[in-house]
Amino acid sequence: MRIDLCFTPGQTDELALRDRTVVAIDVLRASTTIVTALVNGAREIIPVATVESAVKISGNLFGDVILLGGERNGKMIEGFNLGNSPSEYTADRVRGKAIIFSSTNGSQALVRARYAKELYVCGFVNVGTVAEALASPGRDFTIVCAGNNGMLSIEDSVCAGMLVARVSAAADAPPELADGALAARTLYRTFGRGILKMMRSSDHGRHLQEIGFGDDLKTCAGVDTLGVLPQLDGNVIRLKTAAQGKEPAGQPQAT
Ligand code: MLT
Repeated sequence: MRIDLCFTPGQTDELALRDRTVVAIDVLRASTTIVTALVNGAREIIPVATVESAVKISGNLFGDVILLGGERNGKMIEGFNLGNSPSEYTADRVRGKAIIFSSTNGSQALVRARYAKELYVCGFVNVGTVAEALASPGRDFTIVCAGNNGMLSIEDSVCAGMLVARVSAAADAPPELADGALAARTLYRTFGRGILKMMRSSDHGRHLQEIGFGDDLKTCAGVDTLGVLPQLDGNVIRLKTAAQGKEPAGQPQAT
């Protein structure tokens, strides 16, 4: 088993990810919001790269079962029903709905990996479930971090490192780690015991606090709070399995 890792979507392309197993990570906040929406009963998430595509696709679908969600610069897009705060994606708002979703960085990572053989969405909230799904078959995979406007983001990198550490601990044999995966695991070993603190001092974390979304950081920093596995199926993300009755994997261990 080999684990590859890109710190930004720009470090890879659709061709390189085609037919691979891919994990997309955008801790703040797209991954966390998508996981929350699905846990709260959203039928599916349709990731799109641009606001124009979102509006176009929504025009072809039935209005009462469709919501438009996402952000630009952290704020809700004009004409959309929901922004990108996990707190907005309550069961009352999203149950039974398909959500067309466009965010600044997270959607770009998802769209870039759309031809992958398998594509999973991961944040701290479901990292243990994703690790379990990847460790047992022991196949190669690539982590694509969404980053922040084309730059590395510390929160995605630390989450990626936690995933690498968890998969390595659970796999039958130690995986071969590409340099990116090794570097992310090192960042996790440094910051994994203070995830919320790390997030509060990150570029994107500071921006979210400045525009009034400081509480989202706590939600996004929760480890294994939502034990589900969102997977791309055709053009839509749905839950593959719901972990039922599992013990949460607990706080990060520097492995
Ligand atoms: C993104 O995809 O760029 C982020 O989720 C932005 C945000 O925090 O809203």
